[in-house]
Amino acid sequence: MAADSPPTDLDREVARRRTFAIISHPDAGKTTLTEKLLLYGGAIHLAGTVKARRADRHVTSDWMELERQRGISVTSSVLQFEYADCQVNLLDTPGHQDFSEDTYRTLVAADSAVMLLDNRKGVEERTRQLFEVCKRRRMPIVTFVNKCDRAGVDPMTLLGDVERDLGIACWPATWPVYQADRFVGVVDRTAQQVLLFDRSGDHGASRADIQRFELSDPALAVELGAEAVTQLTDELHLLEGAGHPFDRAAFLAGTLSPVYFGSALSNFGVEPFLREFLTLAPAPVARESSIGPISPLAPDFTGFVFKIQANMDPRHRDRVAFVRICSGHFQAGMEVRQVRTGRPMRLSAPQQFMARERVSIEEAWPGDVIGIMDRGGLRIGDTLTSGADLEFQDIPRFPPEHFARAYPADPLRRKQLDTGLRELSEEGAAQVFYAESETGPAPIVGAIGQLQFDVMLFRLEHEYGAPCRFEPVGYRYPRWVTGTPEAIEQAASARGRLRLYDAKGQPLLLFENEWALRWAVENERKLTFHDVAP
Ligand code: G4P
Repeated sequence: MAADSPPTDLDREVARRRTFAIISHPDAGKTTLTEKLLLYGGAIHLAGTVKARRADRHVTSDWMELERQRGISVTSSVLQFEYADCQVNLLDTPGHQDFSEDTYRTLVAADSAVMLLDNRKGVEERTRQLFEVCKRRRMPIVTFVNKCDRAGVDPMTLLGDVERDLGIACWPATWPVYQADRFVGVVDRTAQQVLLFDRSGDHGASRADIQRFELSDPALAVELGAEAVTQLTDELHLLEGAGHPFDRAAFLAGTLSPVYFGSALSNFGVEPFLREFLTLAPAPVARESSIGPISPLAPDFTGFVFKIQANMDPRHRDRVAFVRICSGHFQAGMEVRQVRTGRPMRLSAPQQFMARERVSIEEAWPGDVIGIMDRGGLRIGDTLTSGADLEFQDIPRFPPEHFARAYPADPLRRKQLDTGLRELSEEGAAQVFYAESETGPAPIVGAIGQLQFDVMLFRLEHEYGAPCRFEPVGYRYPRWVTGTPEAIEQAASARGRLRLYDAKGQPLLLFENEWALRWAVENERKLTFHDVAP
């Protein structure tokens, strides 16, 4: 936008978009927090809806059969709501048994992340893995320390642990207020105000009312007691003296995380968090492409596919490709081009997703995610454009955590199995690797979550007529390797290692345990080890 021209619709819509994902370890409270954000966003009126849906899913969902049988969501959905004039797109990241590559890929479609921690556990394994993906993308990360309504690790200690563990600086934006060990409020350090929660509520089903006090207000001492106020003032002084100051550039570069304290269950601290998060979190910014950075304000429509959901409706066997819009104004029915194939496509029935419901949409803007019905031509990472040919940076292939050999139930259907494995891996349902064997290359499926195997089995049988079984391989810890062929050969021949090739022919070494992997990384000096495909 030129300095003196009035803002266009595109300027306005981009400026108010906030597209983010929540990263956490199972049970930290992601479902609960998501529900409360929707509650504050007015998208649901009484909390409990999202959870109720979980149990209810077999009644309401027409998603794939497998999902129905298991009662879990196979891939993530996108929740959209308005709050404080922001259009919020919350990209839901599957976290339990349904943790998969989609969880990682969703982060590539987000502009920022909320890292949700349990106040007793701090950084846990999944949080760390997801954080690494965000860090690689230099994504701004805001931290929410949850479950403060019950005793946890001392906040100062917890922040120190996060800093040491993840190598990110923490800036407490709020600070928990306790009265005789009861969590009663937070200090908003920017406004220098104390927010006390109204405890008379309905156990978190509706919004928590707040009373605001200046720190020096005598009424605060009456409310909290002189002792609690003294303790709080001391803690705040300590933070001023020893903590990091807020630095917006560092936040946007992903090296400093503002931290909020609260309780998703009781709603305490959720609203101050949401309000400030939306102020802090960036609107969509330029994305790297093969022809340089593409500004969201560029007039041509561009976007990329970050997730493909197959067979959501078994009666139609359709697939939905989820596209993150990067620039331009999207209008239903517009014609775009799939850059990889040069194929023109008319996007006539785009959809948006509110929890489990699909809604047809007429228009969308950068930062939004739309679902496009697809007959099988789209792949993860595909760029769509209405203007010049360009490709957005590839979505990385993340290291699988489980590997299994695929055996066709009927050896005569090996060809169908190979076709299925190739097409499903191109689509991104799982990764396929090959090990050399006496009888030729033997396929090995690699996945991040166990559920991906079930999805593969189901689809191989129903779409390709190739029922098969998977047998786990005794190796779990992969690294792609680069180096001279001799160095790779030598490293691969050591005991306790398995060498595989990915679909592009790039070699990986698999190790039996983490210790063996670490040893190799530290000692195999002639090789470079990559945790995502180079
Ligand atoms: P997840 O999606 O990250 O896996 O977590 P989820 O929201 O399902 O929460 C996991 C458990 O933690 C739930 O308890 C939930 O009620 C509880 N929880 C979430 N936020 C808070 C909080 O702020 N304070 C406290 N004390 N607990 C919280 P559950 O017993 O496993 O399930 P439920 O019976 O409550 O549904």
